[in-house]
Amino acid sequence: MAKHLKNWQGWILFLGSLAVVFLLGLLCSSLLERRAEVASVFNNRRTPMTDSIVAQNEKFAQDFPLEYETWAMTEDTTFESKWNGSQERDVLEDNPAIVINWAGYAFSREYNTPRGHRHCNEDLRKILRTGNPGIDGAGDLQPGTCWTCKGPDVPRLMREKGLENFYGAKWSDWGAEVMNSIGCSDCHDARTMELKPARPALYEAWARAGKDVRKASHQEMRSLVCAQCHTEYYFEKENHQYLKFPQDRGLTCEDAEAYYDSLGFYDYVHPLSKAKILKAQHPGYEIFKQGIHGKRGLSCADCHMPYMQKGGIKYTDHHIMSPLANIDRTCQTCHRETEKTLRKNVEEFEDKVFLYAKKLDVELANAHLMAEFAWKHGAREDEMKRCLDDIRKSQWRWDYGMASHGAAFHAPEEVLRLLGDAMMYAKDAQLEAQKVAGVHGWKGAIPLPDISTKAKAQKYIGLDMPKLQADKKAFLGTVVPQWIEKAKKNGRFITRPM
Ligand code: HEC
Ligand code: HEC
Ligand code: HEC
Ligand code: HEC
Repeated sequence: MAKHLKNWQGWILFLGSLAVVFLLGLLCSSLLERRAEVASVFNNRRTPMTDSIVAQNEKFAQDFPLEYETWAMTEDTTFESKWNGSQERDVLEDNPAIVINWAGYAFSREYNTPRGHRHCNEDLRKILRTGNPGIDGAGDLQPGTCWTCKGPDVPRLMREKGLENFYGAKWSDWGAEVMNSIGCSDCHDARTMELKPARPALYEAWARAGKDVRKASHQEMRSLVCAQCHTEYYFEKENHQYLKFPQDRGLTCEDAEAYYDSLGFYDYVHPLSKAKILKAQHPGYEIFKQGIHGKRGLSCADCHMPYMQKGGIKYTDHHIMSPLANIDRTCQTCHRETEKTLRKNVEEFEDKVFLYAKKLDVELANAHLMAEFAWKHGAREDEMKRCLDDIRKSQWRWDYGMASHGAAFHAPEEVLRLLGDAMMYAKDAQLEAQKVAGVHGWKGAIPLPDISTKAKAQKYIGLDMPKLQADKKAFLGTVVPQWIEKAKKNGRFITRPM
């Protein structure tokens, strides 16, 4: 069947193949060259490092200018999306009922939305949750552990001081030490620039579950560098405030609850309802894993650190922020829909979650207030057990869903499931409180105070906000400058503390 090719056809085939081979060769050599170029940056660094942790981010600028420049852009707070963005928003002002839910805990004083990584130390110093140590006899509200998810000075200090001494110190003990914001050595081994989470709690949690972080795949590592901080954790009160992840039983909300229940753990006793409350931190990694993108094996970096091109060099964008700022480089590397459609997809999920959460904020606060009322009308502990168990369960699910940044998009069904269960428990708690009040002679609906603004709610729980704010001003004006002066003398930062 093979007809003989005409002469000219043979020549064309021959020359065509030659051209293809030549072009492939060119491509290969340019790729190899590019690789050699990149490799030579890694091997012949102008600022070579012999230590795995180098806290000062500026020291990486010369060798890795593209990564450094984009990393530095996390200082920019201009981007805003419908529900998130890089600017700071006062969550308590937007949702005053939350003040009641966190009564007795420092979150009821002040709670803002997150900004970019370069603000992490500044934002921790100025938040009222740490107290205003050194002012007017005010001591520390938090232990040293509270610095853990800040910059690369943290792994440096852990190594220098020992873990237990780092965690167990006072928060203010490290005020003049943690000066460099979340940076290169938090995610990379400074010597080789390989991905390497710097915090021990992640390695310890994995080891307890029989896994080894060091053996995780490269794709998983692109999430684990984030998961060392964007995760749920607690402090072991009887063990130097040692930081632990409650992941021994698994990664769901109920797995963590079962773990805490088995220890009889609680973060605080609520002063109004007397429920033993678990404060959720920010189980970002855990909830992400329950969503479709997590289940399809995406990593955090796929959306939050997309690739970029400059002069033929492909590199990773280190300006970690909302992926909605660059839909063309994030979502559209995989999805063919328009920017408008993709943004709308995100907003629709977020609308559903946040609008439902607003209703739950209030119902949960009412459960606390109704329990308070029942106690005031003679309720006994045995009568209140079911009500308080309900409140603990409700608040844990509510907080777990809401404190997990990005969860409304990362795993909307999972969050709505948690909020739905939380609503059920909140309503049941209300019913129980109403019943108990009835047993003690109260006829009719339990009256509720006006908590419609942040100021009213904070006043109701007895916070003297003007004083706390004045103390903060004094703290930022006197103590913090002393810390910075001391850090400067000790060479802790190069250009400025950030
Ligand atoms: C060392 C701890 C740490 C690591 C590692 C870390 N984060 Fe963060 N992240 C934080 C803290 C703390 C904030 C809040 C900073 C603030 O509000 O000042 C934050 C904020 C953010 C924000 C909000 C930024 C904005 O502009 O609103 C995003 C998004 C984010 N992180 C994603 C990530 C991703 C993705 C990774 C991994 C590639 C990661 N983070 C690794 C601690 C960390
Ligand atoms: C929050 C974690 C995080 C921080 C902070 C961080 N990186 Fe990265 N970096 C990554 C991830 C994730 C990648 C992608 C690695 C991959 O997939 O191979 C990466 C890649 C790189 C690469 C490989 C080349 C490239 O662009 O893909 C270099 C070099 C690098 N980072 C340098 C730095 C420098 C310098 C800093 C500090 C200014 C820094 N990184 C801070 C997470 C981080
Ligand atoms: C499929 C893409 C995608 C992946 C993968 C992803 N995220 Fe997100 N993330 C988003 C989107 C979209 C938002 C919502 C942004 C908005 O509303 O502006 C978001 C929001 C966030 C926020 C809140 C930002 C803010 O301004 O408040 C944080 C923090 C965050 N993600 C961290 C992570 C971490 C950690 C991982 C990995 C465990 C991860 N994300 C994986 C798409 C993704
Ligand atoms: C690295 C690839 C990748 C990126 C980047 C990515 N996605 Fe996806 N996305 C997927 C995959 C895979 C699925 C699951 C589709 C399936 O298997 O049916 C998915 C599913 C979805 C779905 C359907 C969710 C559902 O509940 O069924 C939406 C909506 C979506 N993505 C939006 C986004 C948006 C918005 C972004 C950017 C913030 C984004 N994706 C980024 C790969 C990606």
